[in-house]
Amino acid sequence: MSPNLRHALQKRMVHSCDLCVQKRDKVILEAWLATCVAVTLVDRQAGVGGLVHLLLPEPMCSDIAFVPATYASTGLPLLISQLRAAGVALERLEACVAGGSLVAPVSAHDMRLNIGGRTTDVVLAILAQARIPVIKEEIGGYGHWKLSLDCSSWETSIAPLWQPGQDPPLRQAMPDLTPDGIGRAIAMVRPIPQVALKIIQMTQNGDYAMGGLAAEVRQDQFMSGRVLSLCNSAFLAHRGHIDSVQGALTLLGERKFVQIAMAACLEGMLPESPLGYSLCRGGLFHHALGTARVAEELARFTGRADAEVAFTAGLLHDIGKIILDQYLAASSPYFYRTMHTGGRSLFELEREQFGIDHADMGRRLGEEWALPDNLIEVISHHHDPGRATLNQELVTLVYLADLLMTGFQPGCSLEGMNSAQLEAHLGRVGLTPEQFPVIADRMPRSIFSYKQHLEGGEV
Ligand SMILES: [Fe+2]
Ligand SMILES: [Fe+2]
Repeated sequence: MSPNLRHALQKRMVHSCDLCVQKRDKVILEAWLATCVAVTLVDRQAGVGGLVHLLLPEPMCSDIAFVPATYASTGLPLLISQLRAAGVALERLEACVAGGSLVAPVSAHDMRLNIGGRTTDVVLAILAQARIPVIKEEIGGYGHWKLSLDCSSWETSIAPLWQPGQDPPLRQAMPDLTPDGIGRAIAMVRPIPQVALKIIQMTQNGDYAMGGLAAEVRQDQFMSGRVLSLCNSAFLAHRGHIDSVQGALTLLGERKFVQIAMAACLEGMLPESPLGYSLCRGGLFHHALGTARVAEELARFTGRADAEVAFTAGLLHDIGKIILDQYLAASSPYFYRTMHTGGRSLFELEREQFGIDHADMGRRLGEEWALPDNLIEVISHHHDPGRATLNQELVTLVYLADLLMTGFQPGCSLEGMNSAQLEAHLGRVGLTPEQFPVIADRMPRSIFSYKQHLEGGEV
């Protein structure tokens, strides 16, 4: 395709648990996939196509709001019926299917659970029953895929998200972080805002007497702007527009307001670039926010930690990346390619390239900021909760939230979670591997529709 034509195309992300039906137009529908499965269906003659981005094979919980596009068993029939309503003929439909991967590094538990594989099985059975041919597929395996449907030509492409064909830069080109350099890099990071430290203290003590917090947020124009933009984002799914800090406090309540103010503090500190740990602008913040929401939900579900502390811990777990992101950006093809081809963990690569991994870098930054010990422990051991000694349950909840976000939200943060000890980790918070799909089903849907960061513009 010529660069000029590509420039004229609008890209539209189809997030997990969502679908889109589109008539012929200069639009590309796109889904980023790891464990999730996406299906495109096209009737070229009618000039209508669609894409559905499925999270799970079928509903697992009865006590959460039912979103049909979440599940293969309901989402794919829904796409077919919407396409038929838009004028397609069932016998002319062609399908492409991608995703359903096991997220590396692969463990026996991944094989046993294989949520993506089961979602794929349901998809293929529905397509077979409807006699819809699959003309292109990239399913299973260990890859992260980008499925794109060009609605001007009805071409579907399935490409690796990590661009593994790119050659890694030479080892000598990597920037080095000497022990002295690490100290200097930490000193150069903007200090954590006082208001964030105050919020962390409030959360630790379970004391939500607002005191001067709202006034402090209101006085800081930049901060109040961020708070209001988060209040009105899909993250909260709040009905109606909130246009003042006081309005946010009144409508959302103190605890939610405190969470949002904390998230706003972190948003200002995390790198925005799509060149380092994240493949999309603002992806690190999206990952942090999603991990925080899932950790909070898991804390409520298991009763093993304070939900507000779990939220803050989830928000802060990857702060080491604030410093390492710029270093990784210089060598990201090497990281993405090496991790994609397997065999090396993110920590191993970070230690090899920078002399320090992002958990240890985060611990040092957390100590510099004088964060409470339980949060520093989460930051230090969020990839290996068995090593925690102070509050293993809190660290485990954040680990599980991180694992879920990594499996279902590819591209937001290079993380390389290890699930080899999953059964032991789940057991520590009173869960079984059989409950894992149920936990996935309980993930707050709003984390998939935090559109402002993932939505593409012109391509
Ligand atoms: Fe991490
Ligand atoms: Fe993470």
